[in-house]
Amino acid sequence: MGENAELRVGDQVVELPVVVGSEGERAIDISKLRSQTGYITLDPGFANTGSCKSSITFIDGEKGILRYRGIPIEELAEKSSFLEVAYLLIYGRLPTAEDLESFSGSVIHHTMIHEDFKKFFAALPKDAHPMAACSATVGAIATFYPDSLDPRDERHVEVSIHRLIAKLPTLAAYAYKHSIGQPFMYPQNKLDYVGNFLRLMFGNPCEEYEPDPVIRRALDLLFILHADHEQNCSTSTTRLVGSSMVNLFGTISAAINALWGPLHGGANQEVIDMLAAIRDEGMTGRQFVERAKTKDDTSRLMGFGHRVYKNFDPRARIIKKACFDVLNKLGVHSKLLEIAVELEEIALKDDYFVERKLYPNVDFYSGVIYNAIGTPSNMFTALFAIGRLPGWIAQWVELHGDPDFRIGRPRQIYTGPTKASYQTVGER
Ligand code: ACO
Repeated sequence: MGENAELRVGDQVVELPVVVGSEGERAIDISKLRSQTGYITLDPGFANTGSCKSSITFIDGEKGILRYRGIPIEELAEKSSFLEVAYLLIYGRLPTAEDLESFSGSVIHHTMIHEDFKKFFAALPKDAHPMAACSATVGAIATFYPDSLDPRDERHVEVSIHRLIAKLPTLAAYAYKHSIGQPFMYPQNKLDYVGNFLRLMFGNPCEEYEPDPVIRRALDLLFILHADHEQNCSTSTTRLVGSSMVNLFGTISAAINALWGPLHGGANQEVIDMLAAIRDEGMTGRQFVERAKTKDDTSRLMGFGHRVYKNFDPRARIIKKACFDVLNKLGVHSKLLEIAVELEEIALKDDYFVERKLYPNVDFYSGVIYNAIGTPSNMFTALFAIGRLPGWIAQWVELHGDPDFRIGRPRQIYTGPTKASYQTVGER
């Protein structure tokens, strides 16, 4: 007999089953609460609500633990590669050498986009935000594959997964090329996933382009660190939109928009803009931190704080170290990195941040690396989206295989007017 929780509502007492996860996390199963009592639960921001059972990613926010399919993020960061991690997340196990070769080969051979589709970019203004361009093009490219969009057909799903992982970097790079008025580059199959993306972004047809191994490795690492993070805003969007049975392209287009927001993935662009503003306005780190604490001032210390991590974000630790390594190897001196380190030191000793358990998150140092390798700040969140894509896909696949699958449809507590009569214009 499993553990039960008892709930007293009105004059009723109901027994609610307790669900225990493989790491000992506990949840009270309220799926029958409304039918048994007429009550629903209310949890703005879903801070206490589990929306699913999942075997993909484990986070312990108090201990600063992050694992994909059980493997600590630190080990994956040190030993794995992005496409291997993508395979691990989506298929649930590390690939054999043959699995990885076949997966990588298939992804590399899907990187081109239909020639006609390039015209889509021409309709966008030069200063179109790359996240708007990525979301729009990912949604629109589904129109080329009407015969392989069924979310319950294994072959359709397989080819859609490979197409999306392959084409998102091409679409993101084209959004960038369009913004700077340079010709689109064709992918080159002899390059690996990240090397190919770097060439699509920074190469031009007039010259040979050889990806710098330091930059290639740094980007691969950043993609690994961003690859999944359980039920965050964009992943919950993936599950909610996916639960309508729309195809994978439509789902990921919605997830990209969710990621764009400054409180989520858009924070990486906000961080670098914040560091640059501090530099350009000659503000001290202390002055900015004081401003970020003021309730009537809207500026927060971007890249600080996390809904789940209340001790440290393990990704931020790895990225901070990588940041110093990369800048050192590239021989880049970064004033922005200096400011970031100063802000972190001040905030970590400041009562306001200590009491609220606010620590640097994944976005705090990632932008400094993106900046050092020549990426414009409005592309940062698009890079995050490329990294997060395998996680979204893995969660979408898991959703569709879930025996408890139902369309996502939360309820509400209505607080508007009670029944009122319609008044004609003359009566108002
Ligand atoms: N700077 C200043 N104050 C902050 C910050 C910050 N970065 N983050 C939280 N606070 C304060 C809030 O004002 C609030 O104070 P109060 O209790 O006095 O009202 C308290 O800390 C709790 O903050 P909430 O916003 O309620 O925490 P929540 O869990 O809802 O939000 C979030 C988490 C959105 C990440 C928040 O910390 C934030 O806005 N951070 C800055 C943006 C950012 O870096 N986002 C990226 C997150 S990682 C990712 O999505 C990939």
